[in-house]
Amino acid sequence: MQIQRDGQSLSFLSKKLYFVFGISIVSLLIIIGGIVPGCGRAADENEILIGEYSSLTGTAATFGTSTHNALALAVEEINDAGGVLGKKIKVLTEDDQSKPEEAATAVTKLITRDKVKAIIGENASSRSLAAAPICQANSIPMVSPSSTNPKVTQVGDYIFRICFIDPFQGTVCANFAYNSLNVKHAAILKDVKNEYSIGLAEFFATKFKESGGTIVAEQAYSEGDNDFKAQLTALKASSPELIFVPGYYTESALIVKQARELNITIPFLGGDGWDSGKLIEIGGSAMENTYFCTHYSAMDTNAVVQHFVTKYRSKYNETPDVNAVLGYDVGKLLADAIQRAGTMDGSKLRDAIAATKNFHGVTGSITINGERNATKPAVILAIRNGKLTYRETVQP
Ligand code: PHE
Repeated sequence: MQIQRDGQSLSFLSKKLYFVFGISIVSLLIIIGGIVPGCGRAADENEILIGEYSSLTGTAATFGTSTHNALALAVEEINDAGGVLGKKIKVLTEDDQSKPEEAATAVTKLITRDKVKAIIGENASSRSLAAAPICQANSIPMVSPSSTNPKVTQVGDYIFRICFIDPFQGTVCANFAYNSLNVKHAAILKDVKNEYSIGLAEFFATKFKESGGTIVAEQAYSEGDNDFKAQLTALKASSPELIFVPGYYTESALIVKQARELNITIPFLGGDGWDSGKLIEIGGSAMENTYFCTHYSAMDTNAVVQHFVTKYRSKYNETPDVNAVLGYDVGKLLADAIQRAGTMDGSKLRDAIAATKNFHGVTGSITINGERNATKPAVILAIRNGKLTYRETVQP
């Protein structure tokens, strides 16, 4: 409602009020920008901005947290040694809450608002797949530490990973089951909401059957489920000698726990998605007689590995899991590529990452191949007496 009489002084007063109000809003925004991560982070000319999108919370929170912590360690070391191209690296991080939609939003923010010139992420293939097209469309190189589904790097020539892919991982799991455990009849329980799980189940089944084995039953669940008894009962009825669960740690640990409650005592086998300190925490003693395939073992006596394990433990007070070690390697590898590129220009940086040869990572020598993947050995771990134990290493 406007009062017409005395309009002059009233409008003067309201202008003044609007002005004061406006100034307060602006200062509030500046304050928020300074304290809330993700708000108003501008590039300083002495800094190189790298974006990181990561599952810091949600069902796969340990994946993102481990990578994030180890990446911070890598960047600290790089900056202490003088940085790259005479500048310090600054990592801007967005939490995608373990959700693919959030991963897409996160990289959009990093690219359009923060103007990062390179992106690290994600661990989970489904989330890398959601974000990669945005990086590709903006000619911003993206390097995943641990997404193993083949489709991730097929998104385009700006998308890379520093780990092996699932056709190899599936083969390693199938051979381990068939040859090392002497299993001829296996069942599969996969997560149909997870590209990684769907792919790995298929690669495992193909190789296992090719070797002469039989997949006696297959069941499905969806990420976030917590009751698997119906599927497990159905699998039990087909008398498998082993159940392959290519899922992430939260659901996989619950699956094994519920299986033991149903008196299913046979071995379970998983892929790298099981690699989390939470696996044994959630599954407890049910995890005895289980195995999983992954990229590294903290028990590796190699001096480079042990040096990293000691350093990480002293900073974070826990043993680095696979996403920590790959997070460290991805940070160092990207810094090396930036140094070789001599610039943050997207296409030149892309070329430098693509040209990576024999980079000495904690996870071994990393060469980026023509498909923008890395060819590296896999490790099989077993759970015995509540602890991870080393079983074998499989060369590509
Ligand atoms: N390889 C998994 C994927 O592609 C991610 C992952 C890697 C999870 C390593 C745990 C450990 O979805």
